[in-house]
Amino acid sequence: MSEMKIGIIGAGRIGGNCARQAVRGGHHVMLSFARDPSKLEELASELGDQASTGGVADAVAFGEAVIVSVPWGAIPEALEQAGTLSGKVVIDTTNQFGPGPKPQPGQTAAAFNAQRMPGARYVKSFNTLTSAFQAQAAGREGDRRVVQWMCGDDPEAKELVAGLIEDMGYVPVDLGGTAGCAVMEAPRRPGAVYGEEYRGADSQGVVDAVRQGTPIPQTPSYE
Ligand SMILES: NC(=O)c1ccc[n+]([C@@H]2O[C@H](COP(=O)([O-])OP(=O)(O)OC[C@H]3O[C@@H](n4cnc5c(N)ncnc54)[C@H](OP(=O)(O)O)[C@@H]3O)[C@@H](O)[C@H]2O)c1
Repeated sequence: MSEMKIGIIGAGRIGGNCARQAVRGGHHVMLSFARDPSKLEELASELGDQASTGGVADAVAFGEAVIVSVPWGAIPEALEQAGTLSGKVVIDTTNQFGPGPKPQPGQTAAAFNAQRMPGARYVKSFNTLTSAFQAQAAGREGDRRVVQWMCGDDPEAKELVAGLIEDMGYVPVDLGGTAGCAVMEAPRRPGAVYGEEYRGADSQGVVDAVRQGTPIPQTPSYE
């Protein structure tokens, strides 16, 4: 896809890898939100001309899409610094570990977070695989490429994020809306894709099962 500007809120293990893979894919990033700003500077200088740093609101203004990748408990602070996200494509990588307000029983973390970002064109992705695995598996070729699941209630936003995921070296797979995406959320458990490697060929059975409300096929295993 054509060159895009991406604001990154939280450039740690996951957000930092997203920034690195986005730059490799030809995009520009602005890194923000750190207690220790020197870490952002360090990563930006490693990534070169396509990376810069700024405040959280600057990263939001810069980005055609914004990646939120902070610990669950830091989400309220990050959103406060972000200001309005209305109309913005937001990619949420977070999982509901540790302190902070939690979803209602039966509500997905994605639906809960989408609600905390009024007007945002919310997409959840990059949350099911460890940071080390995401870093190592990015850019695999052919049928060994790894799936990054997505969910969201805005089809056009998901289309844009799918293009970005592809440029970043993964296979985008749309699991549907935020209300029905529990299989991609923590904790790791039988019957969920969270915490498991999937490749493109094994993804359609999961998509069909989620759509039909039936159990997903057995978790694949790869050598
Ligand atoms: N790690 C994984 O394997 C993994 C996998 C999938 C999803 N996730 C999810 O993705 C999100 C990010 O995880 P991560 O592992 O990338 O986290 P991380 O490495 O700890 O990165 C968090 C980033 O937020 C910044 N930050 C700013 N204010 C903060 C505050 N008050 N408290 C903590 N950090 C603050 C940190 O910078 P400073 O340290 O300089 O403040 C850091 O750059 C989490 O919601 C996590 O559940 C993680």
